[in-house]
Amino acid sequence: MTPRDVVARILAGRGSTPRAVANAYAPANIALVKYWGKRDEALNLPVTNSLSISLGPLGSHVELARGAGAADAIWLNGEPIPAESSFARRASAFLDWFRPAPDFTFDLRARNTVPTAAGFASSASGFAALVKALNALFGWDLPPREQSILARLGSGSAARSLADGFVEWHAGAAPDGMDSFAAPLEATWPELRVGALVLCAAEKPVGSREGMRRSVATCEFYREWPARVARDLAELKTAIAARDIAALGTVAEGNALAMHALMAATRPPLVYALPETMTALHAIWAARRDGLPLWFTMDAGPNVKLIFTRAAESQVRALFPAVQVVAPFASPAENPPPAHS
Ligand code: DP6
Repeated sequence: MTPRDVVARILAGRGSTPRAVANAYAPANIALVKYWGKRDEALNLPVTNSLSISLGPLGSHVELARGAGAADAIWLNGEPIPAESSFARRASAFLDWFRPAPDFTFDLRARNTVPTAAGFASSASGFAALVKALNALFGWDLPPREQSILARLGSGSAARSLADGFVEWHAGAAPDGMDSFAAPLEATWPELRVGALVLCAAEKPVGSREGMRRSVATCEFYREWPARVARDLAELKTAIAARDIAALGTVAEGNALAMHALMAATRPPLVYALPETMTALHAIWAARRDGLPLWFTMDAGPNVKLIFTRAAESQVRALFPAVQVVAPFASPAENPPPAHS
């Protein structure tokens, strides 16, 4: 089963006549229980479920139209992107699965409100917004589940960027991945806050795709990971239902550290933390010992995401003056306008 087969199955009987232009937006997301490891690399089918929080106004806008040229025209944050850049190649390779005819090209204009240097991945929101824009351009009217499956083909974590709030990606078991999609939880939590601490904006040496492939292949502790994720997911859902920030923070921090332990035990080892990362973690632990209800999570990079509630916000800002804070469930008025990058 290839991504093209999955796309053909989902789009069977749907139209291929584009309207003039389509616009879409999708939020970035940060996993509280992580996705690390695939059972199928071509379809981005994960070994385990994962659970994230969407970041409201931090995400990707996509404007999509039929192109006029012989190749896709791709723009990022107002700048034309060379076709040979990794961004354009990844976007065009994804669009290849959706062209109604081989000579059909796209004009794709993406604008990120996730500061690309903030350590929040923009690929998840980018692929999710692109799928929404394709759905609107061709008038497919696909249900959210099918849109999540299509976004997953671009990047696994993009499956979770189709919805707001807490989102769970169900790993599924079917070889074609038709049961591997993400869906939102009912819960809301207006006081919840997520903060981005940018410690290093340089590109990471080993990306998630290659990193998780290596962990599955070489880390002998990987076999413990699915049971750990199952336990963490159960505890996380209980914490969310109770709006218990200490329980949520404890699970998220522990799950991130367990993932980083797997990474470190991978051969060759993957160590994403920098000295600045460790300094920040120790500052968080010291503040917590002094009574500040503050936890963290980290992805495949050196930057740290802070987890807290509104009650702790002024103290968190005092501790980390450069932090960028998002209120995932608050009204747009309560979130500062995102910085463009
Ligand atoms: C550490 O979704 O970027 O952020 O499926 O290969 O595109 P691909 O990987 P990607 O991996 C994200 C890994 C993570 C954890 C997470 O977001 O759950």
